[in-house]
Amino acid sequence: MKKFATFLIAATALFGGVAMAEEGPTPAKGISFSFEGPFGTFDRAQLQRGYKVYKEVCANCHSMKLLSFRNLADKGGPSFTEAQVKSLAATFKVQDGPNTKGEMFERAGLPSDRFPSPYPNAEAATAANGAMPPDLSLITKAREGWHGTFNQLWNGIGGPQYVYSVLTGYETPPADIAKEKPEGKYYNPYFQAGHWISMPPPLSDGQVTFDDGAPNKVDDMAKDVAAFLAWTAEPKMEERKQTGFEVLIYLAILAGLMYFVKKKVWAGVAH
Ligand code: HEC
Repeated sequence: MKKFATFLIAATALFGGVAMAEEGPTPAKGISFSFEGPFGTFDRAQLQRGYKVYKEVCANCHSMKLLSFRNLADKGGPSFTEAQVKSLAATFKVQDGPNTKGEMFERAGLPSDRFPSPYPNAEAATAANGAMPPDLSLITKAREGWHGTFNQLWNGIGGPQYVYSVLTGYETPPADIAKEKPEGKYYNPYFQAGHWISMPPPLSDGQVTFDDGAPNKVDDMAKDVAAFLAWTAEPKMEERKQTGFEVLIYLAILAGLMYFVKKKVWAGVAH
């Protein structure tokens, strides 16, 4: 009887936890990416396409302050050439100064510049959009696609899936809440801070033309830009995985050697 009571309490705690975790935003769509798993790597062409989506669409509202243009040439990333990075950077306007007259001025971006913010300050960004468009540098690490400790241990936190789901998740609101629609907001059940989001659906089919001729439906562009933002949040991911793998091989060899050393050291010892 006592055992049964303990079981009941444990079960309630466990399932209560699960039930609580299930409230809130709809879990992200479980699409898969090339960079998942212990050996997953980024798909260069996809990162380059994702960059283009960021540049042509998202950069109009969102900043990406932690990334410099020259990072786009880094190993393990989109791997643009130095020359490509130079011309990509030059398409952005960057504030510099003060000059000898004490005035700030605008110039074309250089590879060493960070990605500039499209607005002069947070207030201007909020005023223009009804809410602050968050900086996207780390967004795939700052948001979870789903909840539950085991779920996340097994499937990762789902940050890139969250971004993908928000971008593809605009829906007609269910009739019962449609009349609650706040002015200037859109229904998106995947958005973590409630179902109403101030970002208008940013993508439409065919909006960005890819140099490699890859498909450019909303779904494709959302996937590509989510992959790109997974890279911006962890630019050294490939290096980390490779080092981890090498360390494991090293430890396996070391363990084997130690076994024989142990055998030899103890060989002459009488029982
Ligand atoms: C017209 C301006 C605009 C454009 C273009 C735009 N966004 Fe947004 N975005 C916003 C605003 C404003 C918010 C904040 C919404 C809110 O808080 O209600 C937002 C929120 C988001 C969020 C949710 C963040 C969170 O807090 O969970 C993500 C992810 C996002 N944007 C990604 C993108 C991506 C990727 C692109 C390019 C494909 C893009 N956005 C294009 C204005 C924009």
